[in-house]
Amino acid sequence: MARTTTEVRDWLCGHGLGQYAQTFADNNIEYSVLPDLTENDLRKLGVISLGHRKKLLKAIEALTAAKFGVASIPVAPQREAEFRQITVMFSDLVGSTQLSEALDPEDLQKLIDAYRGECSTAIRRYGGEVARYFGDGAMAFFGWPYAHEDDAVRATHAALEIVSRVTKIAGPVTLTCRVGVCSGPVVVGETGDSGTWSMDAVGETPNIAARLQTLAAANTVVVSESTRRLVSAAFDFQDLGLQELKGVTESVHVYRVLSAKHTTSRFEAAHAGSLTPLIGRSSELSLLLDRWQKAKEGDGQVIFLSGIPGVGKSRLLHELKSRVEDEPHILLHHQCSPYHSQSAFFPVIEQIEQAAQLTAREPDADKLAKLKVYLPRPIDGLAEPVALIAKLLSIPLEDDLELSGLTPRQVKNRTISTLVDILLAFSAQRPTLCIFEDAHWLDASTLELLELVTSRIDRARVLLIVSCRPEFRPAWITHANTTMHSLTRLSHSEVRAMIRELLSGASMPQPLLDQIIEKADGVPLFIEELTNSTLSAPLRSRGAVERKAQPALLRVPDTLSDALMERLDRVAPSRRLAQIAAVIGREFSYDLLSAASQVDEEDMLSALSLLERADIIYRVDVSPFVRFAFKHVLLRDAIYDSLLKSKRLQFHADIATILEHDFPELAENQPEVLAYHHQEAGNHPLAIRCWFKSGQRALAHSANVEAIANFRKALQLLSALPDTLERTRQETDIQLALGIPLIAVQGYASADTREAFSQARALCLRLGNIPEYFQALFGLWGNAWMSGKNDEALGMADEFMSRAQALPDAVPRMVAHRMMGSTLLTIGDFRSSVDHFEESIKLSMNKGRPPLYHLYMVEP
Ligand SMILES: Nc1ncnc2c1ncn2[C@@H]1O[C@H](COP(=O)(O)OP(=O)(O)OP(=O)(O)O)[C@@H](O)[C@H]1O
Ligand SMILES: [Mg+2]
Repeated sequence: MARTTTEVRDWLCGHGLGQYAQTFADNNIEYSVLPDLTENDLRKLGVISLGHRKKLLKAIEALTAAKFGVASIPVAPQREAEFRQITVMFSDLVGSTQLSEALDPEDLQKLIDAYRGECSTAIRRYGGEVARYFGDGAMAFFGWPYAHEDDAVRATHAALEIVSRVTKIAGPVTLTCRVGVCSGPVVVGETGDSGTWSMDAVGETPNIAARLQTLAAANTVVVSESTRRLVSAAFDFQDLGLQELKGVTESVHVYRVLSAKHTTSRFEAAHAGSLTPLIGRSSELSLLLDRWQKAKEGDGQVIFLSGIPGVGKSRLLHELKSRVEDEPHILLHHQCSPYHSQSAFFPVIEQIEQAAQLTAREPDADKLAKLKVYLPRPIDGLAEPVALIAKLLSIPLEDDLELSGLTPRQVKNRTISTLVDILLAFSAQRPTLCIFEDAHWLDASTLELLELVTSRIDRARVLLIVSCRPEFRPAWITHANTTMHSLTRLSHSEVRAMIRELLSGASMPQPLLDQIIEKADGVPLFIEELTNSTLSAPLRSRGAVERKAQPALLRVPDTLSDALMERLDRVAPSRRLAQIAAVIGREFSYDLLSAASQVDEEDMLSALSLLERADIIYRVDVSPFVRFAFKHVLLRDAIYDSLLKSKRLQFHADIATILEHDFPELAENQPEVLAYHHQEAGNHPLAIRCWFKSGQRALAHSANVEAIANFRKALQLLSALPDTLERTRQETDIQLALGIPLIAVQGYASADTREAFSQARALCLRLGNIPEYFQALFGLWGNAWMSGKNDEALGMADEFMSRAQALPDAVPRMVAHRMMGSTLLTIGDFRSSVDHFEESIKLSMNKGRPPLYHLYMVEP
């Protein structure tokens, strides 16, 4: 791996500016170049925010100071292995043996170098990393060491680009290559010594990618089903059916990538014909329609619609567009792209090309004619504006005298004002809805355009809507006629309604439903993906993230995994701390995290503040303890899942030890927390004890449902232990204890109650005649009596009586008479029933008798 790229990335991430890592890599800014960067350079690089430029300059200054003080450049520590979902790409040259026979070795070497150059350019351009070259093959990872929300899409774009660029390499022969792409779980990390690290991924995913590459025809890209599912909105495919792959046990569904789809919006591409009904958002829609009304009346409006990923910005815009569909209006929809935030005017160019229906292959004259048809009056008749827009779209003009005397800056300024003129000219024809989606990916030139638009549409029939994620905050946002709206999560009832719609009549077990509600956190995207992952769970194809450790728990869907991990990778220096916090749980206290991580206070505070700024955690409380929580449960889960199993076990064991030694109060009052860590550390005997204790605590507080859950957890772990006398004793205690809250929650007559007591009775028999047998028998008698099985109840009361009479202790006899009395009362033998009750009352008067409630749930 190129250490320099990683170093710069880590450095940027360390200052909370990881979003510029790709830009720096694209511009070959290596670590050694950093001290030479000026503010102007940063502006040219696209660091639009003044605050970010200042921050970077300060960091560079510190670096320079450090350089003079310390001789060597700090090298980022080796990245530990993780369990991650990534997309692996394999590229190979076709016919390399023939090439080596036909070409002079030096010429061949040059060709291979050029081929590798093309591979690495395409891979880096889309944010991937070349893991290794071998001969004429290249393996790249997308999603590690740094994840992006759309790594599979990036890998596929890079693959197509490699295929198309390799054929254009100049040389004695035309090169062709083939590429295989597969997404799935791997254990990925760096291997080797200081300075010579290389990336390695272990798992089926790289093997499948390599095999897919051999399946691909020359100059084509072949992907697995797991990748296709992640990228289907962005590309067109040819289905190649199920294929046997060498060394892979199950056959794999394989697709050839034909081309990238051209769409006006990310959202429309992903949801063609597959939308569930809109839930809630009526006040937001009213707001948008109100501003649209004002705009139609000539009072130009701007709306900034901000919200976290997946909260429903695009969906809301989609609804607005359909509401105004039948009104006369003009729609200008601009979609910003994460891959083109460095391409000047990218969203505008795309919008015009699509609206004017220009295609790549048509002659320039035709393009120009179409452009003139598209442009509104009077712009279409003005030479300079037409020339400017033609230049913007890279349509060469036979005679571009109009622009010949202009400097590039002048061309840019005039282009911007022409674009505003075009917008105003459209709005003179009809009210115009102008949308810029995903402005956080805007290039600097379009940003300038937007600033001018907002100041010039005051009296135009224009509604400008800019959608963005919360990190986008341009300075000119406070302009008059501007409305800021931050889209919030759905309410609990809306989440339920949305899940109902997604299930479309199918049923879902309540515990699963509760998990989705908890984990989705009111974010529609999470609701969709979690619900869909449960619906399609049995059909999951290979390559999808599947871990069998906790089958009952909802896993992070592979469609969300990259987006969640991207956030963590942006804050590299805090990664380890976030991982330990994730092991503690969704919520964690400063003190426990500090003890578990052994990080000193200063580093802890800066790492935590980095995590807070990156929206990974938030402060829940400061008193009595400073406590934090992960922003989403899913985020915590994704971070937790990325830890190798051995590491997780170790962290859980450490945390359990720390809890016992340094937090005895917590361990005493919340034994379930200790139980959880012992269990996940694989220390089952201790976990069983803690779950039992926790059940008893819950029972003492009449938290019967929790008590049942804790006792059951203890039983589940116990069942996997060797069948010893000790295990039988423990199980007896737990089954008897479980019976009590079961009576409270489900009643004596329930099957679960019966099951607990009959298990306990059988265990007591195995242990010999022990006092607990009476409790089990009493529970079973209660079950029979309450179920109306009088004969059975009488038989049990008899057995209880004869066993009790053989003992010196009066208490069992007292209970026996009570049982007998109740049974006889039920079958109508009132005389004998009164005798038994009287006897029971007499025995109960005995002073010093211990209370019975916790054993029998009755006091005679
Ligand atoms: N109110 C809603 N009712 C039903 N479905 C919704 C609602 N809001 C969003 N969705 C669905 O949730 C998913 C995510 O929403 P959307 O794409 O609009 O999010 P976004 O905020 O635009 O995210 P991003 O920042 O990634 O663009 C979509 O499939 C969308 O249809
Ligand atoms: Mg969107």
